[in-house]
Amino acid sequence: MRRKIVVANWKMHGSLTANQSLLEGFKQKLGPLIHADYVVCVPYPYLAQAQQLLQGSNIRWGAQNLAKFSVGAYTGEVSAGMLRDFGADFVILGHSERSTAYCESGENIAEKFMMAKSHDLTPILCVGETLQERESGVMERVIAEQLDYLLSSRGAKVFADSIVSYEPIWAIGTGLSATPEQAQSMHEFIRARIAQQDAQAADQLRIIYGGSVNPANASKLLAMPDVDGALVGRCSLTVEDFSAICRAAAQPQTIAY
Ligand code: PGA
Repeated sequence: MRRKIVVANWKMHGSLTANQSLLEGFKQKLGPLIHADYVVCVPYPYLAQAQQLLQGSNIRWGAQNLAKFSVGAYTGEVSAGMLRDFGADFVILGHSERSTAYCESGENIAEKFMMAKSHDLTPILCVGETLQERESGVMERVIAEQLDYLLSSRGAKVFADSIVSYEPIWAIGTGLSATPEQAQSMHEFIRARIAQQDAQAADQLRIIYGGSVNPANASKLLAMPDVDGALVGRCSLTVEDFSAICRAAAQPQTIAY
C-alpha cells in the first residue's frame, strides 16, 4: 500500500516571521495525523529555518529546484549537496512555472532528477499539459513525452522511491482543479506507462496531484485509487487550509487503498 503524501509548495512566498508562525501551526495540527506523510518545500534561504523548526517533527522539508551540476562555477545555482546540508529530503523538479519562465528542457529536468537521486533526495517530478493540449485530446501523448526523458534513457527503475506530480497547467493557481476522475485517469495512465517497463517500480511510485487543491476538493481527489497525495500551492500558505488538506489525506477512507 502506498502511503499518502501532502507536499506544500510555497513558491516565492514567505518571510522569517510569517514562516515561523506557519511552521509552528503545521507542527501543532499535523503532529497527531500519523497516517500520512507531510513535506514543506520552501525557498532556499528558509531551508535553515525549516530545519531548525521541523527537526524531530513528523514534517519533512525540501526545495523547489536544484542545480544539475554537483559543484563549480555556476553563479546563482544551489547544489543537491547543499540541500542535504540543511537536512532537505525532497526537491520539486520541472514545475511548469520554472520550465516556462526559465526555459527548462526535459533533458535538463531529467539530469536534475538523477542528481537528486544520487544525493538521496526524493525528486518530485512535475508533469502536465496545457488547456489547449487537453482540449485537442493530446494530453496523454504530452505526459508520455515528459516521462520519456527519464523512461527511455534512464529506465523505469529510477521511479521507484520517487514521486511524480501530475499538474495540469490549466489547474495551477486558477481555482479550477481537475476533477477526481480526470486526475485518476491521468494517474492511471502514468502508472501504466511506467509499468510497461517495470511493474514493481510503477506500483511503488507515489503519483500526487497538484493544481488548485483546497480543503473542499481534497477528500474526493485523495480518495481516488491512484492519487497518492497532493502538491499544494496557495492553500499551503495558511495553517487552516493546509492542515485541512492533510487531515483529508490521513483519514481512513482515503488511506484504504
Ligand atoms: P496551486 O499550486 O495549489 O496554487 O494551484 C499548485 C502547484 O503549483 O503545485
